[in-house]
Amino acid sequence: MHGFVRKLIVPLCTLQLAVASCNFRIDKQPGAGDIRPSRDLINKVSFQDVYKIFRMHCTGCHGSSGGVNLESHAQAKMNLERIHRSTIVERRMPQSPYPPLNQEQLTLLAAWIEAGGPEHPLDGGPIEEPEKLLPKFDSIQTMVLQPKCVVCHAPGKKAENIPLLTKSDLLNSPYDLVLPGNADGSGLILVLVEGARKKMPPLDSGISPLSPDEISIIKEWINNGALD
Ligand code: HEC
Ligand code: HEC
Repeated sequence: MHGFVRKLIVPLCTLQLAVASCNFRIDKQPGAGDIRPSRDLINKVSFQDVYKIFRMHCTGCHGSSGGVNLESHAQAKMNLERIHRSTIVERRMPQSPYPPLNQEQLTLLAAWIEAGGPEHPLDGGPIEEPEKLLPKFDSIQTMVLQPKCVVCHAPGKKAENIPLLTKSDLLNSPYDLVLPGNADGSGLILVLVEGARKKMPPLDSGISPLSPDEISIIKEWINNGALD
């Protein structure tokens, strides 16, 4: 809300408070009223289901580097109440440049919170293992590029002139993003390493840098010929 509008509303509310309670701000909030997960969903949702949403919309900013950490089950579970308020009730999260959650994602997250934030499904259903980053394009794309780069490097976004969506975007780029067999000379790696001239993600974006493990797995994929 703009400061100007807020300045108007606060005295209005204070005035009304004297007469009755002021519901203005509360009525304006989207609220959680329209998000009603079914009992069935509450019983079968697991942290791995929710983590797929976190990875695409949250962990770029909420990694293990401090503050609210949504990378691990234990850490996320400690913040259930705050996740509920900020994301489902007030819809303040995620923040730009990450896209907002859709109705289905909000419902799944609400179900998990209502279930008490379980690691595995309450109904004893199959346990899904956490995904591991592999030196393969699809894995790198889902686990690193989508969550940390594509929010800006895709058509219609801030850095659309350097798309990072497909393998061909990487192999056929005028920026020599990927030179198969030569990770250290590849543009993609040059922006990731410590002390890079143009460090990515940009330092002022609030998006956390890649871990040394993630960088070495991407290098391994390139040095292996960037095949599959
Ligand atoms: C672009 C960065 C960014 C993204 C993406 C993002 N957050 Fe945040 N988040 C922040 C910042 C900065 C704060 C601290 C300041 C604030 O509260 O506005 C924060 C605060 C929070 C808090 C602390 C408590 C609170 O009420 O403010 C929670 C919980 C949270 N975020 C959850 C989420 C969830 C869940 C997602 C994904 C659905 C998400 N965030 C996505 C940047 C981000
Ligand atoms: C918050 C937005 C944002 C995010 C996130 C982001 N970038 Fe960028 N990136 C930019 C912008 C803006 C430029 C400059 C674009 C231009 O020159 O037109 C850029 C430039 C680049 C360049 C070209 C550098 C050069 O030498 O000119 C590369 C390569 C790159 N980004 C890779 C990445 C990778 C890999 C990631 C994820 C790890 C990433 N970016 C995440 C905004 C972003």
